[in-house]
Amino acid sequence: MRIIAVTNQKGGSAKTTTTVNLAAALAEAKKRVLVIDLDPQGNTTSWLGITAPDRGALELLTDIDPPESLIRESTTVGVDCIPSTRGLNGAERQLAREMSAETTLKRRIAGMAGARWDYLLIDTPPTLGLLTLNALAASDELIVPVEAHVLALAGVAQLFDTVRTVNERLNPSLTIAGIVACRVDTRTRHASDVVDSLRHTFTSQVFKTEVRENIRLAEAPSFHQPITTYDPRSTGALDYRALAREVLAQEAGRHV
Ligand SMILES: Nc1ncnc2c1ncn2[C@@H]1O[C@H](COP(=O)(O)OP(=O)(O)O)[C@@H](O)[C@H]1O
Ligand SMILES: [Mg+2]
Repeated sequence: MRIIAVTNQKGGSAKTTTTVNLAAALAEAKKRVLVIDLDPQGNTTSWLGITAPDRGALELLTDIDPPESLIRESTTVGVDCIPSTRGLNGAERQLAREMSAETTLKRRIAGMAGARWDYLLIDTPPTLGLLTLNALAASDELIVPVEAHVLALAGVAQLFDTVRTVNERLNPSLTIAGIVACRVDTRTRHASDVVDSLRHTFTSQVFKTEVRENIRLAEAPSFHQPITTYDPRSTGALDYRALAREVLAQEAGRHV
């Protein structure tokens, strides 16, 4: 099972959009995917069609219930989810009282013996608190979505500093699967300038796939469907399928 956190401490950088639609595109390619929604906002949970969950990521992090009992089927075939619940807001305070609070998720995932999934994708909140640190400690790899509207280089450089610290102190094997440029407006010079500078600075760490700006991606959450079923022929669906192919191609070079 490849464990990948989708992270960027900047809000609105397409983390949730990338988590849900990459999960769906991987499932379409016959991979079994588990998504953990670590964002108290619960956008991924809602998008995946899970309504009013009473237990989920909070219980996962606070050692209350067996992890298996927290898994819900989503509306997307092949994608399961440990949902975010309202109480997750209080998780950081609760975790802060515990020993080795940053590695709780890692220990709990290790307990999910004989994992039924090929991929575990973890959506993270837009902060670098204990929830995100738990995701970084538990993951093998990161996918970093970057919004091509804004000059996001400084934010990505900061994230890479964090990854180095995590490598030293928490998780030496954490690597970057890739940075993905999102909301790329192909009609503007500005977007291609941002993508060019990303590629110049981070070279091969940037996925070839660029996710174009596509209104259908913004509509899909209201219908609780990933883009692959909401509008299978949209550019959003094509782009996330292309991203999934790149992620799948990485398997050749690693032990899965
Ligand atoms: N490729 C895209 N085209 C159009 N809108 C997008 C695209 N990607 C993300 N969005 C929109 O941008 C906003 C932020 O995306 P979201 O995935 O919620 O970011 P995050 O989880 O990082 O906060 C949302 O309103 C979402 O619908
Ligand atoms: Mg989000």
